[in-house]
Amino acid sequence: MTEGELKAARDRIASARSITVLTGAGISADSGVPTFRGEGGLWKQFRAEELATPEAFESHPEIVWEWYQWRRKIIAEKSPNPAHTALVLLEQTCPGFTLITQNVDGLHALAGSRKMIELHGSLWRLRCIGCGRITENRSLELPPLPACKDCGALLRPDVVWFGEAIDPADLQTSLEACKTGEVFLVVGTSGVVQPAASFASLAKAHGAFTIEVNTVDSEMIDRDALLIGRASEVVPQLIDLINDNRSN
Ligand code: OAD
Repeated sequence: MTEGELKAARDRIASARSITVLTGAGISADSGVPTFRGEGGLWKQFRAEELATPEAFESHPEIVWEWYQWRRKIIAEKSPNPAHTALVLLEQTCPGFTLITQNVDGLHALAGSRKMIELHGSLWRLRCIGCGRITENRSLELPPLPACKDCGALLRPDVVWFGEAIDPADLQTSLEACKTGEVFLVVGTSGVVQPAASFASLAKAHGAFTIEVNTVDSEMIDRDALLIGRASEVVPQLIDLINDNRSN
């Protein structure tokens, strides 16, 4: 990433009246949360695609729960990093702002993001497979197979698994934000999981300037500018200028 590339992207962000941001596991990598793909992405030799499915939960709920409890314990010790914080600042300074995250770790909310769609749900919410009741739950001492207090049926993490539909309202709001943002900023996603993988193309087709921040060039995101670097270093630099501009 050259200084010129960074400046061009910063200028776009600083002058935009509406910005839509899409984040993936890479933004939380700098907080110490393992990503799904690449180094550290496997748990007991399972890939996410093998565990995060309704079929896996149906046949081996205890294994799927063990994986989620392992992730909940790791994430509970982590804090938002400067990239999460910078996006809160962007939300507060940009009139038309939407954050779409694929992350279920809750770190954006912890940082203070509010105009946010958790597209894949949250692992801090549990949903009863019997009565459908959703509860917030941050306990790290759940039984191996937690049960609903109301109806006794099995609880599952309130996340969207492979093969499951995204909440229609969340999808609708996300698609609208893709179509209306002047700038579309993508941070730390491999761009292989739909529908989020197509959001940058949709935004671009509707005239957005698309910027990607990633440690590698995956070539999966339809972007006008690629900024190679760690999210916690690059994203704050992209957003600092807004404050500079406003104080000038
Ligand atoms: P992935 O694990 O597939 O990709 C993480 C991306 O972050 C990769 O492109 C990395 O190169 C990049 N990356 C790693 N460290 C970074 C850093 N410090 N700064 C910037 N980028 C960095 O995660 P997602 O794309 O989020 O879905 O995965 C999408 C979905 O697949 C997840 O939401 C989850 C998963 O299975 C479900 O569980 C339904």
